[in-house]
Amino acid sequence: MKIKFEVKKIKDIKADAVSSFVFEDMVDNKLHWLDTLFKNNLNSLIDSKDFKGKENEISFTYVNKEARTSRLFITGLGKSKEITLEKLRNAYAATAKKMNSFKLTNVGFELPDLNLIKGVVNESFSDIAQAICEGVLLSLYTYKKFVTEKKDNGECYIDDITFFTDSPKYVKEISEAFKNAKIICDAVFVARDLGNEPSNFLTPAIFAENIKKASSKTNYNVTIFDEKKIKQLNMGGIIGVSQGSDNPPRFLILQYFGSSKSEKPVVLVGKGVTFDSGGISLKPGAGMDDMKMDMCGAAAVIGTFEAVSRLHIKINLIGLIPLVENMPSGKAIKPGDVLTSYSGITMEVDNTDAEGRLILADALGYAANYKPKAVVDTATLTGAVVITFGHHVAGVMGTDSALVKKLFDAGEKTNERLWELPLYKEYDKLMKSEIADIRNIGPPRQAGTIMGGIFLKKFVGDKYPWAHVDIAGTAMVGIDIADYIPKDATGFGVRLFVEFLKNFNNN
Ligand code: BES
Ligand code: MN
Ligand code: ZN
Repeated sequence: MKIKFEVKKIKDIKADAVSSFVFEDMVDNKLHWLDTLFKNNLNSLIDSKDFKGKENEISFTYVNKEARTSRLFITGLGKSKEITLEKLRNAYAATAKKMNSFKLTNVGFELPDLNLIKGVVNESFSDIAQAICEGVLLSLYTYKKFVTEKKDNGECYIDDITFFTDSPKYVKEISEAFKNAKIICDAVFVARDLGNEPSNFLTPAIFAENIKKASSKTNYNVTIFDEKKIKQLNMGGIIGVSQGSDNPPRFLILQYFGSSKSEKPVVLVGKGVTFDSGGISLKPGAGMDDMKMDMCGAAAVIGTFEAVSRLHIKINLIGLIPLVENMPSGKAIKPGDVLTSYSGITMEVDNTDAEGRLILADALGYAANYKPKAVVDTATLTGAVVITFGHHVAGVMGTDSALVKKLFDAGEKTNERLWELPLYKEYDKLMKSEIADIRNIGPPRQAGTIMGGIFLKKFVGDKYPWAHVDIAGTAMVGIDIADYIPKDATGFGVRLFVEFLKNFNNN
C-alpha cells in the first residue's frame, strides 16, 4: 500500500477516483466550488438537493470533463460544530470502503479544513491527520491468507492512496502525521493477523519464533523461554495450564530502550492463550472456534512494540507474554488442583477455563524483577466483560488511579475506550480458598470481570502501580463494529497503548 500527500486542487489529482468531504452547514458553497472546478459536472447533483452533507452520507458522480479523474465521491461530515476525531475516522473509512467496492486501485482523499476542525476538537493538526489516515487504512484490512479462490471475496483492491489539500499550510506536520499513522496502522494489522491466525498455525512455539523474526526488522529484542526454562523458574501457572496440550508453552520477553538504560521501564503483559478449549472444564461447542483469538492481549502487546519501536517513542518498555494452549487430556490440570505461581502464591484451580489469570499470575510476579514505573496487563479474560460493556468499551481496573486515568485518556483520544470497575477490598473474600492462597474463580454470576481483577491484584500487591485491561469484548467481535473495525480480531489495544506510552512521561 502506497501513501502520498500532495498540495493540489482536487481536479488535478490523477486517480481512478477522488473524494471530497463536506460539512452539513457548508454544503451549498462546497458543491458550487466543486462544480466550478469540474466544469458544471455537478449541476444535477446540486439541483436535486439530494445531498445534505449529513454523517454517513456518501454521494457519487462521474466527472469526465477536463479533470484528471473520472469519479468523484462526496462524503458528509455532519455539522461542523460537532465534528470529532472519531467522526473523521468513520467518514474516511466509509468512503474508502465504498471506493474499494468499485474495485479501484488508485484513489484520492481530500483533507477537510484542518483549522476549522482544530478549533472544534482541540487536538493538534497531526492528531487530526492521523485520525483521517487511520480511518482509510484500517478500513481496508482483510485476512485472506488461506483463501485460494481469489474472486470477489471481499479483497482489497486499493493500493495507491493520495491525500491532498490545496492549502500549503502545515505540510510538514501533516506528512509526518501520515508517516506515523501508517506505522500505527501496520502495527494494528500485525495484531489483527495474529488474532485471526488459526491455532494450528499459531502454537506457542510458532508464535514465539515469528515474533523473534519480526523483531530483527526493527529495534526491540526478544528472549524466548522454552518449557524447560519455564519449569526451572517455577512458573507454575504456565506449566499447569499448558500441561494438557501437546504444544509446549513459551514465555516471551520483549525489550525496547527508547530512553537511557538507567530509566525504569513500563511493563506490558499480554495474555497469550493460542487456543482456549476450557480444558477439563470444557467450553460448549458453539463459538469455540473464536477461542483461537484468546491471544489478543499478547497480539496487542506485540503490535504496540512494532509501533513504539518504529516511532522511536522515548520510553523504556518491557513486554511479557505467557503463551499456552489450554486443552483437555489425560495430562491436563483438573478442577481442584493446586498450582504454585512464580512468586510462590498458591492457586486452587476450581475451573480450568479460568486459565488466563493463572498464566498472568506468573508474568505479573516476574514483572516485579524490573522494578517498573508501571505495569499494564491486557487480556481477553472474561466473558462477563462482554455482558457488561458489549463490544465498544473495555474494562479497566487497577491499584493506581493516576495510571488508570492515563489509560482512560488515551482511550478517549483513540476511541479505544475504557471504563473503570472497582477492586474494593470487600471483593477479596469471594476469591478465598480453604486449601490454597487464592481460588481462580468467584461465586457464579457475580462480578465476573472484577473477580478476574481481584485475582490478579493478589500477584501485584504493592510491588508497582498496576492496571488491568479486559479486552474480551473489544479485541474479538462477531460483526463489523465500525467501517474501520472489521469482525474477528480488531487489534484493539495497539492504538490505545501507543497513545498512552507517547504521553506517559508528560503528565
Ligand atoms: N478466554 C475466556 C474469556 C472470553 C470469553 C474471551 C468470551 C472472549 C470471549 C476465558 O479464559 C474464560 O474462559 N473465562 C471464563 C472465566 C470463568 C470460568 C470464571 C468465563 O468468562 O466464562
Ligand atoms: Mn478460558
Ligand atoms: Zn481464555
